Amino acid sequence: MSEYDAIVLGAGAAGLLCAATAGQRGKRVLLLDHAPEPGRKIVISGGGRCNFTNIHTAPDRYLASNPHFAKSALSRYTPTDFLGLIEAYGIAWHEKTLGQLFCDGSARQVVAMLLEECAKGGVTLRCGEAIGAVDYADGRYRVEHGGQVASAPALVIATGGPSIPKMGATGFAYELARRFGLKVVQPRPALVPLTLPAEEALFRELSGVSTEIVARASGSKAAFREAALFTHRGLSGPAVLQISSYWKRGDTVTAQFVPDRPEGWLRAAKRERPRQSFRKAMGEGLPERLADALCARLGLEGEIGTLTDKALGAAEARLARWPFVPDGSEGFAKAEVTVGGIDTAELSSKTMEARKCPGLYAVGEAVDVTGWLGGYNFQWAWASARAAGMAI
Ligand code: FDA
Repeated sequence: MSEYDAIVLGAGAAGLLCAATAGQRGKRVLLLDHAPEPGRKIVISGGGRCNFTNIHTAPDRYLASNPHFAKSALSRYTPTDFLGLIEAYGIAWHEKTLGQLFCDGSARQVVAMLLEECAKGGVTLRCGEAIGAVDYADGRYRVEHGGQVASAPALVIATGGPSIPKMGATGFAYELARRFGLKVVQPRPALVPLTLPAEEALFRELSGVSTEIVARASGSKAAFREAALFTHRGLSGPAVLQISSYWKRGDTVTAQFVPDRPEGWLRAAKRERPRQSFRKAMGEGLPERLADALCARLGLEGEIGTLTDKALGAAEARLARWPFVPDGSEGFAKAEVTVGGIDTAELSSKTMEARKCPGLYAVGEAVDVTGWLGGYNFQWAWASARAAGMAI
């Protein structure tokens, strides 16, 4: 049996930084992953350029059953800290929009950087090995892997969530947590396209049309002003992905079309240009095909001057909160992340250690902390990994 100070399960974003941090503090670390190579989600992230952090990181940009849990780790390892590492490795980066920082070149540079950090810490990395039995006795965790057994007084669960199974994602973190008596908040797909029922065929026919909206979901105060994209199955684009994290089955998602329009804009158009068609006035600022679909649904036609203020007021209200009732989402196969996960009530917010299992830690997406779209999820992976890596 090989003996270590810590065994980290999962060589993704969180596992790599956690192992490197502990290793550089002089700990003997074994890092295991069943995938053939480490950091596969990093490689495909941000369209291959990795949106590695967001300068607007703050706890209110995360969903969690306990909204305070992430504060401690996020305040002790900040976007500036991670950026410092990126710059130390000479990786060129840029701010795209909304505080999102991306590599100028390939996301593979981030994986190479984390592997170099692991090498500096003397971390033993084993990829492509299935993890077998995991148990605990006499103050040590024992892990079977690739026909061998390793043991250590610390075990870190960093195997992420089940989003995108074809990348090697599994619900292993939850199985393991439950085996050690830790509660798991029901996981569900997040940052995921939503599907519309057949009755909404009019909108599903708009596949490829994109426009800026403010997206909201009933049952939440969250609102996101970004692009939405109609797809052949329903709705996608950043605004919809963001709101999907808050959406629950049965909730209505509303779209505010052309968000800068002032109140009373259609009634004002009626007074200013009464001979203009309703379709033309209503469609200003919208893609043609979308304007046609909305107009058909509103059932108003002819010159705007012939329509009553009441009808125009009702149309304005509908365009400001256009309701869609999705019948589902595209599921874990298409979800960027998972909402839910290992219950934060089970963990110390300072160290990520399980309160009732000394030496057992959970970090990254496996934990019930989920960020908005735009680099927030990697920042949580880095911050939680760092907290555990410093505590082991
Ligand atoms: P992560 O999933 O990275 O790593 C888990 C590791 O555990 C994997 O290497 C996996 O192989 C391994 N594993 C799983 N089950 C195992 C088992 N049973 N045995 C052994 N090993 C196992 N976020 C962001 O902030 N900016 C972005 O640009 C993007 N872009 C993006 C694009 C796409 C397509 C996806 C799917 C996701 C993103 N994300 C993102 C989200 C981001 O990738 C995610 O939040 C982090 O990778 C989470 O890091 P973790 O280390 O927790 O899990």
